[in-house]
Amino acid sequence: MKIEEMDEKFIKFSEVNNTKPEINEHVLSTGEKSYSLVIKDFLKYPDEFSSLLASFPHFKNEKEFTGRPGKSFLFNPSNFPKLTFFIRKSLFEHFKINLECISLYTNCFSGIMDTHRIPPHTDMDEPYNLPIGPHLVSNLGLTKNFKGGTSFWTFMKKRGIIDMNIEEINQYYFQMNEINHSDNRINQWENTDDDGEWKLEYYVSWGYNDLVVYSPTLFHQPYFKKDWFLDDDRFSLASFYTIKTEDIDKMPPELRADAYDIWKKFEICKLVNYYF
Ligand SMILES: [Fe+2]
Repeated sequence: MKIEEMDEKFIKFSEVNNTKPEINEHVLSTGEKSYSLVIKDFLKYPDEFSSLLASFPHFKNEKEFTGRPGKSFLFNPSNFPKLTFFIRKSLFEHFKINLECISLYTNCFSGIMDTHRIPPHTDMDEPYNLPIGPHLVSNLGLTKNFKGGTSFWTFMKKRGIIDMNIEEINQYYFQMNEINHSDNRINQWENTDDDGEWKLEYYVSWGYNDLVVYSPTLFHQPYFKKDWFLDDDRFSLASFYTIKTEDIDKMPPELRADAYDIWKKFEICKLVNYYF
């Protein structure tokens, strides 16, 4: 298939069916709240879209530690604006601002892959680099009869990395480093147990053709059990978005007023260091 034909099919099969979200409020053991957004039945042609993406040449990450173990297909950054238009346009309805895609890839795990567990983690690489982002994360479920979703955690009673002081951030990175270099991290797909400073707070279950959005600062983990994905893979399209300061500056006052509530819920005000 020619590249142009793949793009055409991608655009055709990513036509949106529904943009109405469920916004879930989660009360944590610390008394704080955090939020997730789920849009059910997101695409009009999920079967065709899922088959098209599954046909792309996936590479394997087996024993190497990476944020995307299993198999992945990474899209070319020059195509991000065009290929994520269907998600960005749908999320504009709720977040009232242009989202710039900075990462787009398929995520594929199964219970029989010889690979490693993803520990609870934050999707922000550098807490000191907040303006670069990402500021929002989305996952689109592409497996029929999908089970599970994403679990959310506190570490040292903190929901996410932007709530931590420097000492806590250092402890978090110290723990991640220990996990990444431990010998028994291969084939440990079961969810992490509540353990020491880590506490499991809630699950966001999502399924086939659901678009799920959360804040990249929150500690989370794929909610997945080894015996759940023996016949099919846990297959999804992940994308990461940044909000540019110049786009915030250009927002008309009425859109700022509309956006304020959801920006606060999804930690965007803190992440972009911008309070209306
Ligand atoms: Fe993640």
